[in-house]
Amino acid sequence: MECMVIQGGRRLAGEVRISGAKNAALPILASTLLGKGTCTLTNMPAVRDVVTMSKVLAHLGARVETEQDRYTVSLDAIASCEAPYDLVKTMRASVMVLGPLVARWGEAVVALPGGCAIGARPINLHLAALEKMGAEIRIEHGNVHARVRGRLKGARIYFDLQTVTGTENIMMAACLAEGTTVLENAAREPEISDLANFLSKRGARIQGAGTDVITIEGVPELRGADHEIVPDRIETGTYLVAGVITGGEVRVARCRPDHCEALLAKLREAGAELKVEKEAIQVRAGGKLKAVDVKTLPYPGFPTDMQAQMMALMAIARGSSVIAETVFESRLIHVLELQRMGADIKIEGHHAVVTGVERLGGAPVMASDLRASACLILAGLAAEGETRVSRVYHLDRGYERLDAKLTGLGAQVLREAERT
Ligand code: EPU
Repeated sequence: MECMVIQGGRRLAGEVRISGAKNAALPILASTLLGKGTCTLTNMPAVRDVVTMSKVLAHLGARVETEQDRYTVSLDAIASCEAPYDLVKTMRASVMVLGPLVARWGEAVVALPGGCAIGARPINLHLAALEKMGAEIRIEHGNVHARVRGRLKGARIYFDLQTVTGTENIMMAACLAEGTTVLENAAREPEISDLANFLSKRGARIQGAGTDVITIEGVPELRGADHEIVPDRIETGTYLVAGVITGGEVRVARCRPDHCEALLAKLREAGAELKVEKEAIQVRAGGKLKAVDVKTLPYPGFPTDMQAQMMALMAIARGSSVIAETVFESRLIHVLELQRMGADIKIEGHHAVVTGVERLGGAPVMASDLRASACLILAGLAAEGETRVSRVYHLDRGYERLDAKLTGLGAQVLREAERT
């Protein structure tokens, strides 16, 4: 196992280029199962979850060829309808092959994803929607078995709560259903719109992606298409915080500022100076940071995937901030590690009360999930002395070469084998 060793206290400066969004690349890869033919995807991020999804596709019979950020996925026929536990347990997003498999190939067996560091994360809403569209669903020996005779049927589906991968799974399945499907209280994340754009290029008829009502008119088949993955808004946010937390000046290039509005508003409120261009954001620390309250919400609210990074920033701001996590039930594990670095944080239920300290102190800390890893690295950049973040394999699931990109901005970050 590897760890990341950070020598804190360096002011970051320069430009960093954002990669394609992991959470758009994953459903788009899964959606290649919806039809025969070849799809060419560019701006694919070099992160482990994308490699895992490619393995799932290869297991199911797709041919996946990669050349730098370009993936070519070809499908003639399906070799298996089963996504095995070995792959699913390493990445819950594998569950997104369920909708495409059952819609196009009539059958799917997908291991039920188990527990997760950030909360329970059930998939009951995905399953209830597929049932409403005519699929028979059984759960047996830890696997979800879904089957449909003929085509799925269009249906009116109201999601009890906004679910990102749930909306994506059902939107994909509905593309090939007989008749019209209406998704109500759908999630509105930009990654859902990116998936809808790709599916539309393949011949799907989708309206309303990006709003909370999505209407999909089923078509008999989809063709191959080319698509460039949308830039990663969470990676964008992480580098903006890196610039501010180190008192630096960073230009985040090749991003989509319009997908980061909630974060930009909070950074401005905290005192950061931002210059927003069409596809880039320049950030400058601009004096002492002020504490601001943050509440995570589905898009366009403040993203839960930026909560931990924002908490690292608030740990050194002037005053107290209340950070409320409303999307996941236990996404505050990083608090205990930040406390090891001298942060003053109290947890009250789903809230963390963060009182800024003058300076954090480097310490050995342990990452519990992807975004917690980013939070600890950001805290390490601002801390005095050395911070050693272990279990960085979480980080490699969703950040492309984070250490190299930070080094390019002047940070001192080294990857080392973990001491045993
Ligand atoms: N939920 C249910 N039942 C369901 C589905 C969801 O109760 O059937 C609950 C969840 O337990 C959670 C809430 O609904 O409390 C929202 O979960 P959602 O389904 O939206 O999350 P997800 O689709 O599993 C995606 C991202 C996450 C991101 C969340 C929220 C992908 C592959 N994953 O997960 O990304 O945090 O949406 O925005 O798109 C990450 O990148 O680090 C990450 C965890």
